[in-house]
Amino acid sequence: MSPARPLMFDLGRIRKSGIFGHVEYHRSLPSTNTTARELFVPLLAHAPALVLADEQTAGRGRGMREWWSTAGALTFSLVIRPADIGLSQENCPMLSLATGVAVHDMLAGELTSTAISIKWPNDVYVQHQKICGILSEHVTTDGQSGVIVGVGINVNNSLAHAPDDVRFRATSMFDEQQQSFDLTQILLATTARILHRANELAQDAARIIQPFNQNHLLNGRRVTVNSPTPVTGICREVNQAGHIVIATADGDVRIGSGEVVEWQ
Ligand code: BTN
Repeated sequence: MSPARPLMFDLGRIRKSGIFGHVEYHRSLPSTNTTARELFVPLLAHAPALVLADEQTAGRGRGMREWWSTAGALTFSLVIRPADIGLSQENCPMLSLATGVAVHDMLAGELTSTAISIKWPNDVYVQHQKICGILSEHVTTDGQSGVIVGVGINVNNSLAHAPDDVRFRATSMFDEQQQSFDLTQILLATTARILHRANELAQDAARIIQPFNQNHLLNGRRVTVNSPTPVTGICREVNQAGHIVIATADGDVRIGSGEVVEWQ
């Protein structure tokens, strides 16, 4: 079966939603995060601003990795000015956790699967396959400071013909449900939720950490986190600072940024 709905976005509906101060749409871009960086100052002036592309030719993942996606995937970046929502500099890194919670919220409303989870710091999984990746970048230019939140969600693209290393590790909404989705509606539902969760984070980080832990794939599991030296132990939780807490033979270790390279 192949996706049936048209892949184009309904730009009129996106602009009329009132969610964004500006919409920067391109049929094809190397990377929406890179374009958001290039246009950072004017976009920040109209925050929250959206950079949207039908397809990316050089999507970027965390840790200098590539982000593989094909037509039907949702790839966008949101430019957010933390000061607009009263978010402290200190809590800005937690925007990526808040975005993971928001994407989880959206997927829980769209998919019948109950096995949707968030993996610290900010991947979203269905069963043991990744469905969403988030690349959050803090930018300061000309004394102006903001965050670019880049989100890639496998929506109407099937992973059936993806390269082997991606196919075995990833899934899409289409692959889960054998049906295609209204891409514009998924975009609007996701971005509205991201901004809602960002506001909650600004009010009280516990409002993000609590749902994060409730849906955290790793709590109670044996994990290895590179930060950059490897730490292995049982993941207890994600604490109020957004750090993963790992119980090791030498006591609890708290890690603020790193890569989970193994979990059981
Ligand atoms: C990861 O899982 O490593 C993060 C992937 C982030 C991908 C998104 S797609 C939209 C935005 N533009 C990019 O180049 N990357 C992010």
